[in-house]
Amino acid sequence: MGRIFSGIQPTGNLHLGNYLGAVRNWVNLQNDFECLFCVVDMHAITVFQDPQELRNSTREVAAAMLASGVDPKKHIIFNQSQVPGHAELAWIFNCVARMGWLNRMTQFKEKAGKHKENASVGLYAYPNLMAADILLYKATHVPVGEDQKQHLELARDIAAKFNNDFGVPDFFPLPEPQIFGTATRVMSLKDGTKKMSKSDPSALSRINMTDDADTIVKKIRKAKSDADVLPETKDGLEGRPEAKNLLGIYAALADVTLDDVCTQFAGEGFGSFKKALAEVAVDKLGPIQNEMRRLVADPTSVDAVLRDGAERARAMAAPILAEIKDTVGFLKA
Ligand code: TRP
Repeated sequence: MGRIFSGIQPTGNLHLGNYLGAVRNWVNLQNDFECLFCVVDMHAITVFQDPQELRNSTREVAAAMLASGVDPKKHIIFNQSQVPGHAELAWIFNCVARMGWLNRMTQFKEKAGKHKENASVGLYAYPNLMAADILLYKATHVPVGEDQKQHLELARDIAAKFNNDFGVPDFFPLPEPQIFGTATRVMSLKDGTKKMSKSDPSALSRINMTDDADTIVKKIRKAKSDADVLPETKDGLEGRPEAKNLLGIYAALADVTLDDVCTQFAGEGFGSFKKALAEVAVDKLGPIQNEMRRLVADPTSVDAVLRDGAERARAMAAPILAEIKDTVGFLKA
């Protein structure tokens, strides 16, 4: 059985894009893989986080996984900072990865923007920590979205260079991207060409996992659409980014294909389609949101799940980390 590692950052509110693009797919992997799902709080602090908000977000993300149906007994849910091996291996990888490799990372260039001199060193080294996350457990498969593919490539390069430099050809597996046939790239409700994002200034652009039913209905009603009726097949959605996004969200929530949605609503306008979308959204998200609210109100139980997960993660990582240190030439503790 393959081993999955995936991470999600606890920064700001979790939204529909995080759920449909990541968490929901994780739930589906549980039968075919041994899974580690990690709240990557150490990645989060590569840009400043208010400490209390970081604590809250860490619990909220864990609550979302639990509420969505990730089984914390069969699999491991934990937060990164509770397993020191991530930081230890990241340092070793800082010494394996080349400046030139990191200089090519497009996400750093985007996030640092014009003020590269002012970005944290952590933001620059971020992909090395991500490689450490995965390889600390010798994970074989990593579910990633489009935006993380380059980082996963780098993790493979680091694994290969480590294996080669230290003459241990099969030590680290080269982790494979796990691409979902059904992964949904959820776009802003106000601009179908931009990803749904927690940092979008317009609150109407995203559905948060903590939004109540009335808010969800309102945001869908106010979502940008177009004046055409819905097409008969998904080909008719080309050049209509907002229509494509809203139908894509419907398809993901109702668990049907984009063509199915088109067949069902062909010829109708957005007035009636949005009503149907709001209904399915409230229907599908409601129970998850209720469970999330219950969990967030009971931080002690969420913390206990995370602590238990971290303990098992440390145990899984321990022999691998010991072998890595020995391979590098560190004396045994
Ligand atoms: N960098 C990922 C993101 O921002 C999160 C992440 C951290 C991750 N470590 C990982 C994803 C390991 C997959 C595997 O989305």
